[in-house]
Amino acid sequence: MEQYLAPSLGPRLAGTLTGGFPVLVMAGLVITIDGPAASGKSTVAQRLAEKLDAAFLDTGAMYRAVTIAAKCAGVDMNDEQELLAVMEKSKFKFLAEADPCLRRRKLVPVETGMRAFVNGIDVTEQIRQPDITASARYIAAAPKVRAKLVQMQREFAARHKKVVTEGRDQGTVAFPDADMKFYLTAALPERARRRQAELRAKGCSQSLEQVRQAIEQRDKSDEHRTVGPLRPAGDAIILDTTNLSIDEVVGKALRYVKQKCLKK
Ligand code: C5P
Repeated sequence: MEQYLAPSLGPRLAGTLTGGFPVLVMAGLVITIDGPAASGKSTVAQRLAEKLDAAFLDTGAMYRAVTIAAKCAGVDMNDEQELLAVMEKSKFKFLAEADPCLRRRKLVPVETGMRAFVNGIDVTEQIRQPDITASARYIAAAPKVRAKLVQMQREFAARHKKVVTEGRDQGTVAFPDADMKFYLTAALPERARRRQAELRAKGCSQSLEQVRQAIEQRDKSDEHRTVGPLRPAGDAIILDTTNLSIDEVVGKALRYVKQKCLKK
């Protein structure tokens, strides 16, 4: 498996091996944002990253990219060995467009998210298609595939001074020692409404009920898998975004970060 999370400042340290995984020196500041689908994690994480001049990592895009690679290879999505073989053979590249280096040089606008490439093909748009969203659960449930993705996420963090990372297991598994952990949530009807609007903007029309059912199913499989299940870390701050604007959520999160981390 070749992977490239760009741009990189170079590894700060990759050292001894424990359980087959390198121990990496952490970034100076790691903020994790976990939560269910359409809770606002991605937008909040990107804006927070911008305000803190930190790199942004969308770990869902990594699961989605592996999903598309596996589907294109036509492998049995329930066969972990086959999924691992696809990962080994594929070249993944995740361009953190909201990266501070690029932002500073004004090369990219904020909030363009992460671009994902599989074997040199830009799959940023395709990985958001409903069939990929639905199939990502096979990748998410494969323990060895998760372990590889967690390793890539830690390597990414080790290459940046400050990181805001979002997903399902960032505060619980990938970065248990993160400086600050958030868990974003929102009522299901509101999440369905947001996701439907997002899909509409991309020209994909689905009824509110269809979207609600798809989110509910995804919540269930994310919460009930045995590895890296969706749940708040014990030390996470829970933010219910149902009745809050993005600016309000970002403002709240920023106040917590300033209180806890920036006066260190
Ligand atoms: O966040 P997003 O909706 O893009 O994630 C797609 C899927 O990838 C999730 O439904 C989940 O099953 C999986 N995922 C995960 N762990 C993460 C990020 C995403 O299992 N850290």
